[in-house]
Amino acid sequence: MTRISVRDLADFKQSKKRFTMLTSYDSLTSSLFDESGIPVLLVGDSAANLVFGYDSTLPVTVEDMLPIVSAVARSSKTAMVVADMPFGSYQTSTSSALESATKFLKAGAQAVKLEGGQRIAETVNSLVEAGIPVMGHIGLTPQSVNVFGGYKVQGRGEQAEQLHLDAKSLEEAGAFSIVLEAIPSELAKQITLSVSIPTIGIGAGSDTDAQVMVWQDLVGLTPGPKPKFVKNYLNLRQEIEKAVKDFSSDVASGKYPDKDHSYE
Ligand code: KIV
Repeated sequence: MTRISVRDLADFKQSKKRFTMLTSYDSLTSSLFDESGIPVLLVGDSAANLVFGYDSTLPVTVEDMLPIVSAVARSSKTAMVVADMPFGSYQTSTSSALESATKFLKAGAQAVKLEGGQRIAETVNSLVEAGIPVMGHIGLTPQSVNVFGGYKVQGRGEQAEQLHLDAKSLEEAGAFSIVLEAIPSELAKQITLSVSIPTIGIGAGSDTDAQVMVWQDLVGLTPGPKPKFVKNYLNLRQEIEKAVKDFSSDVASGKYPDKDHSYE
């Protein structure tokens, strides 16, 4: 079976077929989401928070991400696997970007994602020229949290024009899609109309070509207050908590293991 390709995503945009992307950081979710028909799996640098327990995406490294990318690629058959380039792995030089991206493709990814617009267009172009498909990411780009002074909605007022320029620069540099994160819905709609490549929204309203969610947000596993755009389709955190408590109390009371769960 062949995987979803950049060509397929271009066709989705052309035929106005909305699609989804989900994050995945392990074998189980990769195979599950792949079998459920999710066309694009993003091994996000959100692994920094959700796998490694950091409080931002900044500390995670290429070496941290490679085994995860490899597991997700091994465990899926149809989905395109996109590896998120960690902070520091593409900003210092084009050659370091090429080196990092090459490692991700060798680990099994079909594409990489980079944060930034106009300022990284040259790097994006070099990767594309080297045969590496690139997904852009603009708006609230978490690797720039220290510049933004927090995780805030971007693109309001005068910033909107810059985001238009960023999207155009990425398209011209050869990116095959662009993530639009936490920007006003109307701006996301206008950017989507102005570029020929698919836009993938997260907190960017309903008019982008696709939507992405962090899987733990989708199923209600992430603790604490959730951003406005997150919709919990399940309350998995509560379900798991209950199962764990039931297991503990069954062991304490001697109810588990019973005969049905023991060997003769
Ligand atoms: O790292 C990530 O999970 C992401 C998505 C939120 C787009 O970049």
